[in-house]
Amino acid sequence: MARPRRFSLTVSLISLVEFLSLTSASMSQQLCADGGGGGPAAGVRAGYWSPSSSRYSPVSSIDASLFTHLYYSSVSIDEASYAVAPPPADEASLLAAFSSTVKSGSPSAKTMLSIGTDEYRMDVSNAAFSRMASDRSLRGVFINSSVELARANGFDGLDLSWIFPATQMDMENLGVLLAEWRAKITEESTTNSLSEPLLLTATLYFSNHLFDMPDDNLDYPIDDISSNLNWANILTFGFHGGSNVTTVDAPLYDATSHFSVSYGVISWLDAGVPPCKLVMGIPLFGRSWFLRNKAKNGIGSPTAAAGTKQRKSNQTGIIAYAEVEEYMDSASTVVTYDSQSVAEYFYNGDLWVSFDSAQVVQKKLEFAARSQLLGYFLWTVGFDDSNSTISKQATESWHQYGQGGFGTMHAGGSNQYVAFNSSSVSSGSWYSKILSYLLSSVLLLVTLSR
Ligand SMILES: *[C@@H]1O[C@H](CO)[C@@H](O)[C@H](O)[C@H]1NC(C)=O
Ligand SMILES: *[C@@H]1O[C@H](CO)[C@@H](O)[C@H](O)[C@H]1NC(C)=O
Ligand SMILES: *[C@@H]1O[C@H](CO)[C@@H](O)[C@H](O)[C@H]1NC(C)=O
Ligand SMILES: *[C@@H]1O[C@H](CO)[C@@H](O)[C@H](O)[C@H]1NC(C)=O
Ligand SMILES: *[C@@H]1O[C@H](CO)[C@@H](O)[C@H](O)[C@H]1NC(C)=O
Repeated sequence: MARPRRFSLTVSLISLVEFLSLTSASMSQQLCADGGGGGPAAGVRAGYWSPSSSRYSPVSSIDASLFTHLYYSSVSIDEASYAVAPPPADEASLLAAFSSTVKSGSPSAKTMLSIGTDEYRMDVSNAAFSRMASDRSLRGVFINSSVELARANGFDGLDLSWIFPATQMDMENLGVLLAEWRAKITEESTTNSLSEPLLLTATLYFSNHLFDMPDDNLDYPIDDISSNLNWANILTFGFHGGSNVTTVDAPLYDATSHFSVSYGVISWLDAGVPPCKLVMGIPLFGRSWFLRNKAKNGIGSPTAAAGTKQRKSNQTGIIAYAEVEEYMDSASTVVTYDSQSVAEYFYNGDLWVSFDSAQVVQKKLEFAARSQLLGYFLWTVGFDDSNSTISKQATESWHQYGQGGFGTMHAGGSNQYVAFNSSSVSSGSWYSKILSYLLSSVLLLVTLSR
């Protein structure tokens, strides 16, 4: 008689497990479906385009079929009215034409208007975001103007790129801003039957905790981010701008510090953001230095200065992928792929550059797909070469590794920066909470049935 009983117990355990895992999957799908169409089945393959790149990479030259979402990056906040600032006169026509140009290249591509910190006036610009977020009526002004500007120019969504909130009060206010913004978008969509609701995303720090800030207790508001954004784009690059020794600038792994892509991704997952809300950044720029001594050209070698301004990036120490490629064609360039950190660098005479090659991009997207992330974004698409080499590599890798499908099981990760593999997945908070809940239910049932 024991046999049938055990059999039925097994069956009920299996259905319980199935029920619970279906419930948790549908809960996360529900979260991910918030805002409608926010989590496209094939994931997000996004790119940021900067109006300053229009002189060498006009919107019409982008192969939009390689992207699901293209961001106009960016307009800023008006420091007097706290509304979204209209673009400078020489960029107005670029903003107006962006959506229609992208869609004529690829009708299914969505366009996003990014509203961000003005990089040339960071302090005043961030102060304006901080002030706006702290005041209910100023938030209303900002939010209303953002929706108006997006609709007037045919955008499908909005992005907040506040780089970065600097106090705990900023973080709290950011949460309130996102909730009110989402409410406005929902309300607007009920009065606008012609269009889908606007998408809402944010461009955030690489990890959920901000390092090297005056306040060392600064974390993003996880629940407000998870429940109000269609997804978050995390800036998993640009880690070592100020370094006085050569160093890889966006390594996937770093066993000696938390400044790595894997650390950032896992920190967000551990903090509780579902992976289907997370989109990982890939830099299309490299970091350049002049070596102090040409003969010392490995990682960790002393540098004399940041590399000279290049035509495309127009910033010292930054070099576009297309410009990296020009150096790669030279016989005097020596290239090294570092498999431990998953990064590439080259030197040529006294120039030393760390960059993301096609191989690095492939490895990073394998990591992103294995972590069940929603997708990736490229920063910025104008830095790719004229064959869109990296943009194509990214799309191909995503299709290759993303084939397992999305939305059924969401892996978390342990907050250890050394390595990320399938055996460390189960110690992650989000996934492991469900798992340990399942196990304890099973144990409880077994105990009860004795
Ligand atoms: C924003 O727009 C709503 C209507 O959608 C209006 O009720 C509200 O007063 C506006 N807020 C501000 C600050 O203009
Ligand atoms: C780099 O800077 C650090 C402190 O910021 C200093 O300790 C170190 O000596 C410097 N290294 C070189 C090669 O200048
Ligand atoms: C390059 O950057 C400088 C500021 O460093 C700016 O004044 C100039 O307009 C930029 N040039 C182009 C072509 O974007
Ligand atoms: C683009 O592709 C063509 C054909 O494969 C090749 O001849 C050319 O060198 C490539 N250009 C760049 C910038 O990679
Ligand atoms: C996976 O991670 C575990 C513990 O985190 C480690 O013991 C194991 O060697 C790793 N496996 C690989 C293939 O990296």
